[in-house]
Amino acid sequence: MAMDKTEALDARARDILRENDMGGFTIPTKGLYPYQFNWDSAFVALGFATFDRDRAWREIETLMGAQWPNGMVPHIVFRRNDPDYFPGPAVWGTEVEPPTSGHSQPPVAASVVRWIHESGTREEGLPRLRALFPKLLAWHRWFHAARDPDGLGIIAVTHPWESGRDNSPDWDTAMEAVSTDGVGDYTRRDTAHVDPAMRPGKLDYDRFLAIVKFGREHGWDPGAIAGQGPFWVAGTGLTMILLRADRDLAALAREIGEEAAIPEIEGWIGRAEEGLDRLWNAETGAYCVRDLRSGALGSAISSTAFLAPYAGIRDAARLGPLMDNLRRILGKVRYGVPSYDPDERKFDSLRYWRGPVWAVVNSLIWRGLEEGGFGDLAERVRGDTAALLTEVGFYEYFCPVTGRGCGGDAFSWTAATWLSGLSPNRAGAAG
Ligand code: DGY
Repeated sequence: MAMDKTEALDARARDILRENDMGGFTIPTKGLYPYQFNWDSAFVALGFATFDRDRAWREIETLMGAQWPNGMVPHIVFRRNDPDYFPGPAVWGTEVEPPTSGHSQPPVAASVVRWIHESGTREEGLPRLRALFPKLLAWHRWFHAARDPDGLGIIAVTHPWESGRDNSPDWDTAMEAVSTDGVGDYTRRDTAHVDPAMRPGKLDYDRFLAIVKFGREHGWDPGAIAGQGPFWVAGTGLTMILLRADRDLAALAREIGEEAAIPEIEGWIGRAEEGLDRLWNAETGAYCVRDLRSGALGSAISSTAFLAPYAGIRDAARLGPLMDNLRRILGKVRYGVPSYDPDERKFDSLRYWRGPVWAVVNSLIWRGLEEGGFGDLAERVRGDTAALLTEVGFYEYFCPVTGRGCGGDAFSWTAATWLSGLSPNRAGAAG
């Protein structure tokens, strides 16, 4: 790529991060998401690390500053009220300060902290790492206790928003059982910012709100949610991202001499490595969703199944068929990796998590493919992502068939993915 084009893209990406920086925390994009979001912030920190390392650490520190006393780190931090977003703090009713949502989101932060630390000097990183470590440990402990109380080694999603993949078809069957009684009238704001064809439908939102209502009425108590919550489903994303983050947390513990924490973390890792058997569908040749209430195992493939190498899975009997599926899927689209298998009837190339490509998920997939020795596939995924960002822009997500930019524009985590994982100037970047 010509250097002036690269420099223009770098400058634009940095501008997006600066424009979305609200002073110590970054919003995903103006209008649609005017608050700090959990996994968005983690990816954003990687972007900042390429040009302002202090600001990168700060992003994680502000996120962890919203941690609940029980260790949970919420998926949204409502630092100031913005009536242009729904559902706002009053709907969540969490009664904490700063106001937050009531559940979490995929815990990529420990991995990001490791990558940022390893790309800088120990002198810079160690004090910040030492302060963050107990918080990260408490968060992971909360995830294992609250979302896997039976020690199955797979992590329950209690609300599709907790998975970060709001309207994935993975959740459809379990969502059909969620009663919307008592949800009442409400006005969505998201569809005022983005083409409704690219967002979840009305019935999805009714059910999203019904699950929030249950949490609010039960004081967001993890025991009540695990025992009677309307949604309790293990997917591939949360389990694999937490498994990887646990491995990175163990490395951080070694780095700062927190040896006492290591046996507990290794216990979680061992349990997850075995637990993933429960998500393996041998007939499909992929990791799939499992409804933990009915026990039913899904048979369709979401892009998060391809996080297995990223999670450190090295079992050739599993990775063989899984990579065959990835090759088949990439053969069907111009731009990989579609968030849902294009051979499935429910594939929808524009609608949020039912088909579109997400640059941040791709960045984790290609990292795992590289580490797992699947260099050709890693190159394809990285190359497709670079083509989308350079030719189309820093959108929230993209149509895998045409490359059309979807959802929000000037999107922080997409800009950060450019800076940290794709820009030819990124030498020395974290991650
Ligand atoms: C939204 O508002 O769409 C968010 O994804 C909720 O988590």
